[in-house]
Amino acid sequence: MGIILSPSILAADISKLGEEIKQVEAAGADWIHIDVMDGVFVPNMSFGFPIIQSIRRITGSTLDVHLMIIEPERYIDRFIDAGADMLTFHIEAAADADRCIDMIKARGIKAGLAISPDTPYEAVLPYISKADMVLCMTVEPGYGGQEYIKAVDKKIAAVRRAAGNDYLIQVDGGVYAENIAEPIAAGADVIVAGSAVFGGDIAENIRRLKDACGCDR
Ligand code: DX5
Ligand code: ZN
Repeated sequence: MGIILSPSILAADISKLGEEIKQVEAAGADWIHIDVMDGVFVPNMSFGFPIIQSIRRITGSTLDVHLMIIEPERYIDRFIDAGADMLTFHIEAAADADRCIDMIKARGIKAGLAISPDTPYEAVLPYISKADMVLCMTVEPGYGGQEYIKAVDKKIAAVRRAAGNDYLIQVDGGVYAENIAEPIAAGADVIVAGSAVFGGDIAENIRRLKDACGCDR
């Protein structure tokens, strides 16, 4: 199965965001990961609708939108209107995960279920077959630049066993060329990386990540 690389623009230089998105695409990144934080579900704030709309205008790449917000059902339609292709919400934040998935799927885009490091994998089991992806957070959601939590590897493997091979499993947080092989060995196939992509030479960083994971596309 191919590995999908999804650079997180949380670590980009926002004053030249368009340019940096073009650079990651030219270097072979597959998706663009956009973190949405509300200052309530996580102790930080980030991007909202106008940023997503602007990015939508400059790229045809899959916009992989990671909602770290309470009551995601209130905003699902607006994020899809803004241009999301994949909408992932936290199971800890949704009163009715089933309904959120239905709302996303009814609009014809992919639905992802995110779980924070302390949430057991069993929490996603009732919804796996309705969703398209499970995101296993490998850091506490809220900030880039944190250290990869190795204990999550077991959870990735458990989700892979439960979901089967034909299913997307994403990891997000603390992934670098030095450790990217670890979540992949555990069963992940969509890799988010922020600091590892946008710190320094973007093209070289993507080449190193791809070499280290054996993604030779
Ligand atoms: C954290 C975000 C991540 C973050 C990852 O809450 O969901 O997407 O940007 O950043 P790095 O790769 O620097 O750990
Ligand atoms: Zn994220």
